[in-house]
Amino acid sequence: QRIIGIMGALPEEINGVVNLLQHKEEYKIGKRTYYTGTINNQKAVVVFSRIGKVASAATVSTLILKFNITELIFTGVAGGISPHLKIGDIVIGTDLVQHDMDASPLFPQFEIPLIGKSIFKSDSKLIENVKNAVQHIFENEYLHQVISAEDLKKFNIHSPKLYTGLIASGDLFFKDQLQKDHLISHFPETQCVEMEGAAVAQVCYEFGIPFVIIRTISDDADQNSVVDFTEFTVKVSNIYSIEIVKNIIK
Ligand code: ADE
Repeated sequence: QRIIGIMGALPEEINGVVNLLQHKEEYKIGKRTYYTGTINNQKAVVVFSRIGKVASAATVSTLILKFNITELIFTGVAGGISPHLKIGDIVIGTDLVQHDMDASPLFPQFEIPLIGKSIFKSDSKLIENVKNAVQHIFENEYLHQVISAEDLKKFNIHSPKLYTGLIASGDLFFKDQLQKDHLISHFPETQCVEMEGAAVAQVCYEFGIPFVIIRTISDDADQNSVVDFTEFTVKVSNIYSIEIVKNIIK
């Protein structure tokens, strides 16, 4: 029997999904609240981890060991790195790297020591499912029905698009071009940055749990990122998470 773990970093990214749960029960473990229930008759466990690699790794471990999830969907926001990305676009992280891992010269920079990998891959079946499911969100100006005209204008969201590719994670909030340039010099193919995905990916890999990381662009990871991130997260990230999860679990 499938039990889907659904995770975000912040309450603003996940509360809407908690509200989708039927037969909801809550469990407090390790300073986090896990909500169990069903969405469209599918068993699910929903939780926000708080920001960062440690918080998210601990949370996904609990989902796996205490709640016996069989797959993991992570949804949240990210800072855009690739120049074609705009606020409101969605990125499926097919590949995940921890950009702040450096145990050199003991191990190559970015390699997870003793795991022998620097890149973790989202599950190809889940990626296909998500790709098909979220297409719906981009059709017929669908988002314009669920996001207020005021917010669409404020964030300059016109016809958001879906992308796939590399997501870089680390315990760093990107707030200037130098940080971006540094990352791009190592990983020119990076789509976006966030602070949990590759940590969650590592734990899922270690436990053999298929996962997919889905991110909505909230800011351009530049000097405006704090303001854009804060406003986008408060105003629209929940709407995206709800629509993404609803369309995946149909
Ligand atoms: N998540 C959303 N925006 C981000 C940024 N600029 N840096 C790191 N993580 C983010």
